[in-house]
Amino acid sequence: MNIRSLILTVALTATAYPALAEKPTYQNEDAQLEQRVEDALKRMTLEEKVALCHAQSKFSSAGVPRLGIPELWMSDGPHGVRMEINWNDWGHSNWTNDSVTAFPALTALAATWNPEMSALYGKSLGEEARYREKDVMLGPGVNIYRTPINGRNFEYMGEDPFLAGEMVVPYIQEMQKNGVAACVKHYALNNQEKWRGTVDVEVSDRALYEIYLPAFKKAVEDGKVWSIMGSYNRYQGQHACHNKRLLQDILRDEWGFDGVIVSDWGSISDMIPAGVAADRKEATLLAAAAGVDIDMEGLCYPAHLEEWVKEGKISEETIDGMVRNVLRLKFRLGLFENPYTEIENRPVMYAPEHLETARRLAEEGTVLLKNDGILPLGKKPGKILVTGPLADAPHDQCGTWAPDREKSRSVTPLAALRRMYGREAVIYSPGVRYSRDNSGDGISAAVEAARDADVVLCFLGEEAVLSGEAHCLASLDLKGRQRELVERLHAVGKPTVAVFMAGRPLTVGREIELSDAALYSFHGGTMAGPALANILSGDVNPSGKLPVTMARLTGQYPMYHAHKNTGRPPFWSVDIDDIPVEAEQTSTGCTSYHLDAGVEPLYPFGYGLSYTEFEFGTPTLSAQTVSKSSAVPLKVSCTVKNTGNRRGEETVQLYIRDKVASLARPVKELRDFVKISLEPGEARQIEMELSPDRLAFHGLDGSEIIEPGEFEVWMAPDSSSGEPVTFTLTD
Ligand code: GLC
Repeated sequence: MNIRSLILTVALTATAYPALAEKPTYQNEDAQLEQRVEDALKRMTLEEKVALCHAQSKFSSAGVPRLGIPELWMSDGPHGVRMEINWNDWGHSNWTNDSVTAFPALTALAATWNPEMSALYGKSLGEEARYREKDVMLGPGVNIYRTPINGRNFEYMGEDPFLAGEMVVPYIQEMQKNGVAACVKHYALNNQEKWRGTVDVEVSDRALYEIYLPAFKKAVEDGKVWSIMGSYNRYQGQHACHNKRLLQDILRDEWGFDGVIVSDWGSISDMIPAGVAADRKEATLLAAAAGVDIDMEGLCYPAHLEEWVKEGKISEETIDGMVRNVLRLKFRLGLFENPYTEIENRPVMYAPEHLETARRLAEEGTVLLKNDGILPLGKKPGKILVTGPLADAPHDQCGTWAPDREKSRSVTPLAALRRMYGREAVIYSPGVRYSRDNSGDGISAAVEAARDADVVLCFLGEEAVLSGEAHCLASLDLKGRQRELVERLHAVGKPTVAVFMAGRPLTVGREIELSDAALYSFHGGTMAGPALANILSGDVNPSGKLPVTMARLTGQYPMYHAHKNTGRPPFWSVDIDDIPVEAEQTSTGCTSYHLDAGVEPLYPFGYGLSYTEFEFGTPTLSAQTVSKSSAVPLKVSCTVKNTGNRRGEETVQLYIRDKVASLARPVKELRDFVKISLEPGEARQIEMELSPDRLAFHGLDGSEIIEPGEFEVWMAPDSSSGEPVTFTLTD
């Protein structure tokens, strides 16, 4: 077409279809994002702007019908879309087509050490959110474990900032490709639930930048997350939702976050009982001034945001900044082009591929802690006794937020094992009806049933309600009479496998000691049963690795791999029962360990066994000396061999130690990992790069510094194995 006819065509089109030619910029999906934002903003009244910045109902905020700006719908939670609740009360709407797959707890996702599984997680959950017409999923969480006492940990990705950062990015990216925003939470330093509304976190900048922020930073800079949720706690005396340093200086200015900051539910009005704000009006001022774009609970902003503007205490420019962030989110979500998911485009609820994803995640997120050879059971294990409070607990295996699950859809371990081996081969005697059951009524029956069994599978752990938001535990021992069940089953003398299902690591050393094998699966969701049956039978070879340190006793926490060396490291420890009566005060050595727990954890970070064996060669380095200004990163290699008789997956973990620095550095720091699959007898050279920036730490002057000196490097199957090799970093 020549230029004349092109011009004519455009002119004719314009005259024939004035609407097309005059389509406002904000409605033109081909226009630049920021142009659309500005064009929509300039058309809005102050009242309409404020309406975008707070809840209008439970989990929704308004649009502007006059301009065709759609509403925004959010939903919990981090591992499944919660059932629909009423417009403005917590009652369930009792829809018949709304509860969807419960995916495993996020600690289980971290235990897969597999970013591809994280991508699948985000994609699947995003599709189910789209089906339910949710625009923002309130998750995932990336706060760093320092103690499993915090019930919240189920929705976090373990104790290591590097692992959590690597695992959160694919989840965000794949969810957002579905047109559903992730909302990474709880920003920041929400590491305990007890006193969560008042705890005032005082950490050094080094702890902040090295431990508690990196995963959030990766979520923003690499994941390009579209929304962030503030946390309930305070930091340096100020609640996270009115903390300028967190919300503005770091999140916006340092990291360039241009998404929406949402309050965690009532964290704005929480400032009133905390004595920080006299009333909702003052709380509004504090939160808006700090940059909270949406008041999720909607008790403060609706009544007072516009009031402050009219009183001149909050400028309309400030409101415009908040509204720009909300509009940008709505444009990114594509809500203007497709405000509602067309029925024919909706993924199916409980789609087979989602249930398969949930099963694969539960399989890869299960950690084999002990196996004396009893596992795998194989095809003909004889008569199986299935016992324990989590063996047939469809509600509890879905984990916290479980009230929002359709438990009839859950496939329990009992059901899955009966499907696999037949009802006749699988006898069931719970022994303990639920995890807190102190009655002991069923233990004798379970013990009697064990006498007739060839193998005992004991499913232990915690009910869903014992984990989760605001649910801290002072002791991590199993509740009720679960231990008594294990002890009395042990006395029967049959091969016994302990399988733990919980939202966090529990102190289960005694139960494992009395068992011949042990699996730790966290709360595995809708498909926990088939996943565990596949692992127990051997159809699936377990490959999970602990994303957290498992202590022997609760009192050992905080306990984690990336700890500093003490001035007097405990090279040896005396067991409390071996200390002589009237022993000399110094006879146990003046070093730091618990007399009743020793030095070591029950199982270290990164630990996990397989049904095959792997052999790690000594790591080799591409150079013994490398300059910190070198553009060529140091290469670290080692050969990993599958020396067993079946294919298996192994996670190769790279750790460093800065031996001498201007500040004490951790004895181990995870700096890379890769999960590989090896056939029996197969050996593979694994190479990882160690660029100087991965040797940096937060210096005394507040900058990220790299100091010359000796470094140790491990390539190992967990954080406590292997021998290091050394290289020297020079200026
Ligand atoms: C809760 C939780 C948060 C959740 C929100 C909405 O208090 O802290 O994780 O997304 O409120 O339920």
